[in-house]
Amino acid sequence: MAHTGTTRLETQLLHSGIAEFNPKTQSAPVALPSMRTSTVRFASLEALDHALADKADGERIATYGRSGMDTHAALEEVFCELEGTQRAFLAPSGLSAVTLVFMALLNAGDHVIVADCVYGPVRHLDKTVLRRMGIEVSYCRAEPGALESQVRPNTRMLYVESPGSLLMEMLDLPALAEFARRHKLVLAADNTWGAGYVYRPLDLGVDVSAVAGTKYIGGHSDLMLGAVMANDPELVRRLNETHYAMGYSISADDAWLALRGVRTLPIRMRQHAENALRVCEFLASRPETARIYHPAWPQDPGHALWQRDCHGSNGMLSVELALDHAQARRFVNALTLYGIGYSWGGFESLVQLVEHAPLTQHSYWGGGDNAVVRLHIGLEAVEDLVADLAQALDKARA
Ligand SMILES: Cc1ncc(COP(=O)(O)O)c(C=O)c1O
Repeated sequence: MAHTGTTRLETQLLHSGIAEFNPKTQSAPVALPSMRTSTVRFASLEALDHALADKADGERIATYGRSGMDTHAALEEVFCELEGTQRAFLAPSGLSAVTLVFMALLNAGDHVIVADCVYGPVRHLDKTVLRRMGIEVSYCRAEPGALESQVRPNTRMLYVESPGSLLMEMLDLPALAEFARRHKLVLAADNTWGAGYVYRPLDLGVDVSAVAGTKYIGGHSDLMLGAVMANDPELVRRLNETHYAMGYSISADDAWLALRGVRTLPIRMRQHAENALRVCEFLASRPETARIYHPAWPQDPGHALWQRDCHGSNGMLSVELALDHAQARRFVNALTLYGIGYSWGGFESLVQLVEHAPLTQHSYWGGGDNAVVRLHIGLEAVEDLVADLAQALDKARA
């Protein structure tokens, strides 16, 4: 990283992962090129021996294309900057980053406690792979009081997601870190919501952070990406070993797109967050709104934790609407600026009608018949986003 003389992440983010000056010309491209290659060639066997020796000493030396060259190294550096770590491992999707955490840090016969607010496919990973590998999983509300009775002699890890990406449930990460330390558990967190910018789990005592770069890091809905970050040398060793063994690799072009996207992360996040709060204000003024789930919204039960632990927010919110199923479907179908789709973190607004079946797995969900809608508030003019919601709500009740 260039020496910026600042600890401000906004500045560091723009000066990390940049091209080194060419020793001869003393110049460098501002935008690092996408370095596509499947392998590396050496001038002599001695040069290869030298590279292997440096690699064995822990330096990031590429001897084959799978581990990636300069573009990948630059993106790893940016992830380390964001999450405050020494190492970052890139993965081809957010879900594969999550999988890496489980596969690297657990053995057959181990037990892991998983926060019941986690992103749904983690349960699929459990059902289809972890169980088959002899890894036991239990789901629980992620509060130290509730977790205590879940600990078994073979429990090795606590895996959480804060806030949960359906109901934005804020978790008390410092309290969970204390709990994990007391029981000698690794604490791993999905930090896709915070993207290392508005929320920094390792600063709060978490051991391992996994991020779906597909969302706010890329920010333009044009790539799939994941990353896993850690500091503890033994955890890094295990992640490194499994990352290599499982053949994880991402294309240089995707690394390049992610680098381009991440440079504007701070301003995008600020605008998403500002727009989302304006949408919350609008929703709160509507008679159909029963509850808003967004930690930066002062009425959200997680607001105090959000104020204490986060440096900002983003465009994710869910809302409970007093609409029956047919009305809720009419509402979603009537929206013109919100694409009906699953992802989030891109420039655009999205909407998802959340089924009650998965919600019942979340202890945070209070039940009831209200429709639950998740919105990703994009970067459109917020007046237009609000007007679109207003006309769709009117149509839903018509
Ligand atoms: C909280 C969270 N973690 C991880 C992922 C997985 O990311 P990807 O879609 O890149 O596999 C998602 C995707 O929606 C997510 O919402």
